[in-house]
Amino acid sequence: MEKDSCRVLNTEIVFPHYTNHIGTIFGGKLVELMDLTGALSAMRFAVDNVVTASIEALDFKIPVKQGDILELEAEVIYTGKTSMVLKVDAYNRENFGEKKQFCCRGYFVFVAIDSSGRPKRIPKLKVETEQERSFWEEGKLIKQRSLRRE
Ligand SMILES: CC(C)(COP(=O)(O)OP(=O)(O)OC[C@H]1O[C@@H](n2cnc3c(N)ncnc32)[C@H](O)[C@@H]1OP(=O)(O)O)[C@@H](O)C(=O)NCCC(=O)NCCS
Repeated sequence: MEKDSCRVLNTEIVFPHYTNHIGTIFGGKLVELMDLTGALSAMRFAVDNVVTASIEALDFKIPVKQGDILELEAEVIYTGKTSMVLKVDAYNRENFGEKKQFCCRGYFVFVAIDSSGRPKRIPKLKVETEQERSFWEEGKLIKQRSLRRE
């Protein structure tokens, strides 16, 4: 059975306790929010629990400051038998404004698990457009790279 990607959007305000001593978001906090948004999208796709198996290297392009609005967008781009690769993008908006700035893209591999914690079969991602095909190929490489690191 093939299934459409389950896109999840998550909006946060950068609270003081998310930041470091210079008032910008702590990198680990941003990774946590991206991981959670990705996991929610993966859980909706698998219709079950998932665990994070792997995270690709992340590059933080611009500082995100206390009080900024942070927008996280996650979608499944590649599926294996029990694993899926999620693309998670983070954007910020300063001063509650219209300008949406790209901060960071992360690729996360999640594995669906059953009630005993064992990997569980998931549907195959439906890939139709040129863009979806391009993301699928990217996701495939990311999955292969993550396995080579083991
Ligand atoms: C992820 C986990 C469930 C895989 O279990 P496993 O016994 O290795 O299972 P399998 O060998 O059958 O692999 C299952 C799938 O995971 C994939 N996988 C396993 N380790 C992986 C890794 N490091 N990176 C990417 N994919 C991985 C396999 O390729 C396989 O994918 P497929 O079914 O789509 O082909 C297990 O390693 C685990 O529980 N890890 C800890 C997860 C965790 O605690 N995360 C942090 C908190 S959420």
